[in-house]
Amino acid sequence: MSILKKDFLWGGAVAAHQFEGGWKDGGKGISVADIMTAGSATANRNITDGVVEGKNYPNHEAIDFYHNYKEDIKLFAEMGFKCFRTSIAWTRIFPNGDEKVPNEEGLKFYDELFDECLKYNIEPIVTLSHFELPYYLIKKYGGWRNRKMIDFFVNFADVCFKRFENKVKYWMTFNEINNQTGYNNEFCLFTNSGIKVQKGENAEKEMYQAAHYELVASAIAVQHAHKINKDLQIGCMIAMVPLYPLDSKPTNIMMAQKAMQKRYWFANVHVDGEYPTFMKAFFAKKGYVPDITTADLMNLKNGTVDYLGFSYYMSKTVKATTDNPDYEYDDLTNDVQNPFLKASEWGWSVDPEGLRYGMNWFNDRFHLPQFIVENGFGSRDVVEDGKIHDDYRIDYLRQHIVEMKKAVEEDGIDLLGYTPWSAIDIVSAGTGQMEKRYGFIYVDKDDEGKGTLKRLRKDSFYWYKKVIESNGQEL
Ligand code: BG6
Repeated sequence: MSILKKDFLWGGAVAAHQFEGGWKDGGKGISVADIMTAGSATANRNITDGVVEGKNYPNHEAIDFYHNYKEDIKLFAEMGFKCFRTSIAWTRIFPNGDEKVPNEEGLKFYDELFDECLKYNIEPIVTLSHFELPYYLIKKYGGWRNRKMIDFFVNFADVCFKRFENKVKYWMTFNEINNQTGYNNEFCLFTNSGIKVQKGENAEKEMYQAAHYELVASAIAVQHAHKINKDLQIGCMIAMVPLYPLDSKPTNIMMAQKAMQKRYWFANVHVDGEYPTFMKAFFAKKGYVPDITTADLMNLKNGTVDYLGFSYYMSKTVKATTDNPDYEYDDLTNDVQNPFLKASEWGWSVDPEGLRYGMNWFNDRFHLPQFIVENGFGSRDVVEDGKIHDDYRIDYLRQHIVEMKKAVEEDGIDLLGYTPWSAIDIVSAGTGQMEKRYGFIYVDKDDEGKGTLKRLRKDSFYWYKKVIESNGQEL
């Protein structure tokens, strides 16, 4: 007998902007992803001022799921997916973001997509905001710097909940909302909140304000969803990257603890409905006075999430520095290499036990069901005679599933499901590459955007099919 629930949600995950393509089809507006060029393992993506002629924007076509969704979902069904996590591109529903009336063609696309999934008994799991906010909202309102964004987001959420209440039960509000603590890298704050920090601005301060508005928007959306249909389950989505101390030196332990607080207070607010004491003390010490109203605090309290969705790819390790007696975590100065872990070509450490550690860390604090909505290994793949022998990917996933099962069996964690990243090869969010592949299905397209878009089953496709069939017994 498997230790996982009988109805455990095995599946795969993607995000609209990384795989749909059809960036102008069906009345879609321009999103933040549409103005990001391709980068590489060593060079960042550029964020251009609008779409600039002649530049390579990999998300415009992506893998053209928009025109291929029936074939792709059929392949997911062949693998035995019980669920499929994707996002709704905000700009398909509200091309600019501030309209009152939604774009019917966009809604119709998701109706058909979800129906196609349901035809195979694949349950759609949906993220509302996954690094794809309307570019117009940035130009006109300054993105999440602006309180008005709360209304725009809530309107978008309401439209989606009402339209799809009978097709989608599990939702998430903001993908990896805590990613923006990496504000030293402009990608993080821009993709989460649509903010490009200007000279003289304090990125950290901007981040706390934007995050507050997002948390309030999320909490209002949760309340509305429950009113629309009490069966809807609304989760948060946190990027779990455990931060370990380099060694047992007390200052390093303290640094790791403060770093964890800085990265994960978002979950406290989502789950407990209030700011933890350490955040209030931090704001006071820094002299930050974010715009937080009494009504906001009420909304946070009344809109706590139903489950904790999270991604897990890697852990990081930190070390204190003598010039930082307050242990203010800064990834540029405090992150160090973990001597015990190997890393991928892109520098992402491989640490299966970190998954179990992260699940326990959450479970010790937040007593909610968990959902692993991303976990995977980005790697180049080689096609030989139409076959892809991706044993490295199988190894990675196998080791993580082993730890996930221990977290359920030995630590008693209530786990709803597991949707590895990614169901199929897609454009990398961080680098814009196709060659940083995560999928069970290979897509013939390279970093220059060339290829036939043909789909091929990798070895991991057949392996994962068995894993699902055996409910995680056959690894
Ligand atoms: C998560 C995101 O950060 O990691 C995904 O939610 C992303 O959108 C995934 O694709 C993997 O990151 P990357 O940069 O390798 O695509």
